[in-house]
Amino acid sequence: MISSDTNEINIYLKSGEVKVCVIGIGRIGLPTALSFANAGLDTVGVDINADLVKMINSGNYPLKDEPGFDKIFEDVIKNKKLFATTEISEAVPKSNLVILSLPTPMDKNNVPDYSALISVGKSLGKLLRKGSLIVVESTIEPGFVENELISIIETNDKKLKAGEDFSISTCPETANPGEIQNDFKKLPRLVGAINEKTTVMIAEIYKYVFGVEIIKMPDCKTANAAKLTANVFRDINIAFVNELAILFENLGIDIIKVLEACDKKYNFETHYPGAGVGGPCLPVNSYQILNSARGMENNGLLKIIRAARETNESMPYHVVELLSDALNQVGKSVKGSTIALLGISYKPNVKDIQLAPAESIIKRLDELQAITKIYDPFFKSSNVFSHKTENSLMDTITGADAAVIITAHNEFRNLEPSLFMAKLRTPILVDTRGIVDMHSAKKAGLVFRGIGRGGI
Ligand SMILES: NC(=O)c1ccc[n+]([C@@H]2O[C@H](COP(=O)([O-])OP(=O)(O)OC[C@H]3O[C@@H](n4cnc5c(N)ncnc54)[C@H](O)[C@@H]3O)[C@@H](O)[C@H]2O)c1
Repeated sequence: MISSDTNEINIYLKSGEVKVCVIGIGRIGLPTALSFANAGLDTVGVDINADLVKMINSGNYPLKDEPGFDKIFEDVIKNKKLFATTEISEAVPKSNLVILSLPTPMDKNNVPDYSALISVGKSLGKLLRKGSLIVVESTIEPGFVENELISIIETNDKKLKAGEDFSISTCPETANPGEIQNDFKKLPRLVGAINEKTTVMIAEIYKYVFGVEIIKMPDCKTANAAKLTANVFRDINIAFVNELAILFENLGIDIIKVLEACDKKYNFETHYPGAGVGGPCLPVNSYQILNSARGMENNGLLKIIRAARETNESMPYHVVELLSDALNQVGKSVKGSTIALLGISYKPNVKDIQLAPAESIIKRLDELQAITKIYDPFFKSSNVFSHKTENSLMDTITGADAAVIITAHNEFRNLEPSLFMAKLRTPILVDTRGIVDMHSAKKAGLVFRGIGRGGI
């Protein structure tokens, strides 16, 4: 494909000559594969998770918390536009567009882990059909494609050369879990590549499949830098309001009132304090930017990002302090108290606990010898963070000494304070997400604590 004229790409797309392979068909990769298949392109999804592959091929849509794709899934499986396999060697040689949606987590020391991309990169070197285009959708630090991935792919018996035998681009994914279909329809795509021709080709392909604005970036690293900058901006802003939240608790000021007022100013962007920042993106992305500066003399410039991480990572401990303070008010301590923890997902209404602040809260409560009862509508009666979870909200709060709302799932919005008054053994409610009307809570007789909610 790379030797074709750029204005032929639309002919190839319409004639079915573009054969797509998406490697990594998880939260982002499966909706991506579904979108390509739904645009009429023959698509194969590759994943090392054999259960997932089996589920997809047998027509069971796996992303139950990702609305909108179930009908597309049914159609493309029925029309045989999509199938899944664990065998990369079956899929890649039959494809000419290879999309990488592989995980890019970090290790215990917060060092980005690109092992999935490295391992697949080695296979691509052996399996790629000449003329193929590669798109890296995974979130990576600027320079990873240019400095590492290309040479990994080139180091092989086939001696493929980037720019001659294959080409490579990045299109960093920015969709939000739980809202991926919406985001796919409206968010612009950033496309950067190793040469102008590839940028134009990938831009045409993504325009054809997604119909959104394409922002052409000068190269791969600038596209990746843009993706990371947007997320690190958010991480830092959340840290800023988290710091203010703790200050305002001490000053007797309700941060929600402050933010509502600031929101009226034209150049203010509202972020909310909370129990911490989790998920596969924000925390990792901050560490990816930090990692990209390793060994550089100006590394110290990034201290604002380090400080933001430190603040956001300390918030689960602040939650436990608020809880402890409330328990002390009624003459109890954390040790031996039964604590109902509501929500463990890192964000509302999705089934995802990657780097969730709930894990640190639970760990801290274990250290302090509390008795925890955990409820999350997406993790009913299961085993998470080495703890059994409950099956119902009512059972969880009944007889507990305190309830802590950790995730703002819809099920926890609009809960009446009177419910907590009726069910809890001691009337303590800690709201880490600002979803409870604290004045109603107080009026109902609850001992209330909330992050940044001074002035009770
Ligand atoms: N989830 C998000 O919110 C989000 C948003 C934007 C970007 N991203 C980025 O997209 C990328 C993918 O994230 P995700 O959330 O879809 O991850 P995920 O864990 O949901 O999916 C990744 C899939 O890759 C598979 N896999 C792992 N190693 C493999 C290998 N060697 N060969 C084939 N398959 C392999 C896994 O089994 C899994 O199904 C990451 O770089 C992430 O940072 C994620």
